[in-house]
Amino acid sequence: MTSTDERPTTPNAQGDPVPTRDATGPRPDAPVVLRVEDLWVEYRTERGWMQAVRGVDLEIRAGEAVALIGESGSGKSTLGFALQRMLVRSARVARGKVTYRTRDGKTVDLLNVDDKQFRQLRWREFSMVFQAAQNSLNPVIKVSDTFQETARAHGEHNKGRIQEKALELLRKVQLDGDRVYNAYPHELSGGMRQRVSIALSLLLDPQLIILDEPTTALDIITQRAIIDVIRTLRDQLDFTMIFISHDLSLAAELADKVVTMYAGEVVEDGPVRDVFYQPKHPYTVGLLNAVPPITGEDFTPLTAIPGATPNLLNIPSGCPFHPRCPYRTDICSRQNPPLVEIAPAHYVACHHHDQVTKEPEIWEHIEVEEVAEAAV
Ligand SMILES: Nc1ncnc2c1ncn2[C@@H]1O[C@H](COP(=O)(O)OP(=O)(O)OP(=O)(O)O)[C@@H](O)[C@H]1O
Ligand code: SF4
Ligand SMILES: [Mg+2]
Repeated sequence: MTSTDERPTTPNAQGDPVPTRDATGPRPDAPVVLRVEDLWVEYRTERGWMQAVRGVDLEIRAGEAVALIGESGSGKSTLGFALQRMLVRSARVARGKVTYRTRDGKTVDLLNVDDKQFRQLRWREFSMVFQAAQNSLNPVIKVSDTFQETARAHGEHNKGRIQEKALELLRKVQLDGDRVYNAYPHELSGGMRQRVSIALSLLLDPQLIILDEPTTALDIITQRAIIDVIRTLRDQLDFTMIFISHDLSLAAELADKVVTMYAGEVVEDGPVRDVFYQPKHPYTVGLLNAVPPITGEDFTPLTAIPGATPNLLNIPSGCPFHPRCPYRTDICSRQNPPLVEIAPAHYVACHHHDQVTKEPEIWEHIEVEEVAEAAV
C-alpha cells in the first residue's frame, strides 16, 4: 500500500499542484447507502435484447466518492439510469436487486417500491446530474422557475425559503446567484449551465448524487473550475457521490474508490490508491496506460488498448476482455472469472490478476482475436 503523500496530484487553474482530497479510501465502518446485487439491464433492439449491464455487484458506503470508469459503451450511464429508475422505455431491468438506506436508516428495495414512494425519495434522498447536463435545462424556463418547480413537486412550497436555498447553492457553485437565478438557460454558457445543474441536484439536500460525465464537452479551464466546485461542495456538505467519467485524472482527484466497467460488467473495484498504483485487471492497466501519467511517476509513452469494445449483441465467450488482453490463456475464452477480493476491499475479475503489472511492454505485440459471430 502506498503512503498518502504519494497520492495523485493535478494542477489547479493557476498551474499549482493541488493534493487530491484527503481521502481515506473506502469507509469500511460507514453504513452501506447503496447495495447493487447481480443487476442486469437490457435494451430491446431489432436483433433481440442487448445486455448493457451484466451482473453488476456494488456497495457504496455513506460519504464515499466512487468513480465509475470505462470506455464509451461500457454501461456506465445505463447503470446510473437504472439506479434512478430513469431507463428509457426500450430498456428493462432483467434481474437484480438495489437496496438503498435512507438518511433515517430505513431500507428501501429501490426497484420495487411504488412510483409514489419512489418520487418521495428522488431529489430528497438522491439525485442525478446528467451527461451533457448543460443541455438538459429547458431553455424557455427561467432558472428560478426550475428551482421553484422542482422543490414544489417534492412538497416544499415556501417560495422564499426555496429562493434563499437556490441563491446559496448558486453562490456555492461560484455563480453570480442573483443574475443566474433570474436568467434563462440560453443566456448562460455551457459551464454555467453545468453548475446550475449541480446546484439544482443539491436543492433538497440529497444523501447520494450521481454525476454523469460532469465535465465533458467543457473547455479545460471550465472543467477545472467544475472539479474544484465539486470537491469544495463535498467537503462542505459531505454527500455520497458516484461520478461517471472517462477522465482518470478526475477519478484520481475526487474518488475514494474506483470501479472499472467493461462490456457491462464490473471488472475491478477498489480503493483509489490500489487501483491506480497497483491495478490488477489488465483492462484497468490499459486505461491507465492510455492517458498521461496521473500518479506523479516518470514519463512513459502512451499506449492505446488494441481493438475495440465488443458488440454487446455478440459478447466474447469467457472473459469478455480476452480478445484484447495480453495476458490471456486458454481458460480466458472458456470461463468468465468471478469478481474476487484479492486485497482488503480490492476486487478483481481476472484469472491471472497475480501476473498483472503496469509495465507497458506486454501491450506492444498483442494480436487482437476475432470474435466469432454468435447465432442470434
Ligand atoms: N437508449 C438506448 N437504446 C439502445 N441501446 C442503448 C441506449 N442507450 C445506451 N445503449 C447501449 O447500451 C450500451 C451502454 O451504453 P451507456 O450509454 O450505458 O455507456 P457509457 O459507458 O455511459 O458510454 P459513454 O462513456 O459513451 O457515455 C451501449 O452499447 C449503447 O449503445
Ligand atoms: S481473465 Fe484472462 S483475458 Fe480476462 S482480463 Fe484476465 S487475463 Fe485477460
Ligand atoms: Mg455515458
